Amino acid sequence: MHTQFPLFSSHLDLAFSYWHRVLQSGDTVIDATCGNGKDTLRLAQLLLPLGEKGQVIGIDIQPIALIQTRQLLAAHLSHAELDRVTLLEQSHATLPSFPDAIVRLVVYNLGYLPGSNKSVKTQWETTLESVEAALKLLAPGGIISITCYPGHPEGKEEQTKLLEMTHALPTQLWNICHHRWVNSATSPSLLLLQKKTSST
Ligand SMILES: C[S@@+](CC[C@H](N)C(=O)[O-])C[C@H]1O[C@@H](n2cnc3c(N)ncnc32)[C@H](O)[C@@H]1O
Repeated sequence: MHTQFPLFSSHLDLAFSYWHRVLQSGDTVIDATCGNGKDTLRLAQLLLPLGEKGQVIGIDIQPIALIQTRQLLAAHLSHAELDRVTLLEQSHATLPSFPDAIVRLVVYNLGYLPGSNKSVKTQWETTLESVEAALKLLAPGGIISITCYPGHPEGKEEQTKLLEMTHALPTQLWNICHHRWVNSATSPSLLLLQKKTSST
């Protein structure tokens, strides 16, 4: 079958392949930009079957995003699974604290909510603030997965600021990789940050 991107069917599938590899039973995963809930649902479907513990936290600044996420989750998850998903209406500039949790994955899908008011979109200042908080929260071996949208000016600036910030992180502590489609500069890109364990 021929697809637009022969290596992966989309940039989100590329992100998904990393999420799949990193998650373990009992983990806490944060979707810092729930939007319509597609990523939150994928995260729940990956994590929750791994064991009885483990939770998904979804965050979005827009009430409509949380309503849509809640509806999507309710259509696909059992009541028991829904009890393990917490949705928070707030900015991700500050992330909630989880004293005993192993936060193995924090996901950002930047930009605006598809099909709604484009004036509410992620801003590079708050995105950087949030990623700084996620760097501290993350368990060793865990990843921060950031889908950037450089096809519009604000998204390009946001990606540039994220790259500047992450270039400065020490290689002793972080593995950082930026996937982009080199012959299509406006396509979404995927920035991955993995906190090294003492043995890596
Ligand atoms: C591209 S959408 C996310 C798509 C979503 N992950 C999905 O699967 O449908 C980006 C979302 O980020 C949200 N957002 C923008 N600024 C935010 C902030 N400071 N904190 C939390 N969410 C924010 C927007 O409301 C929007 O729903």
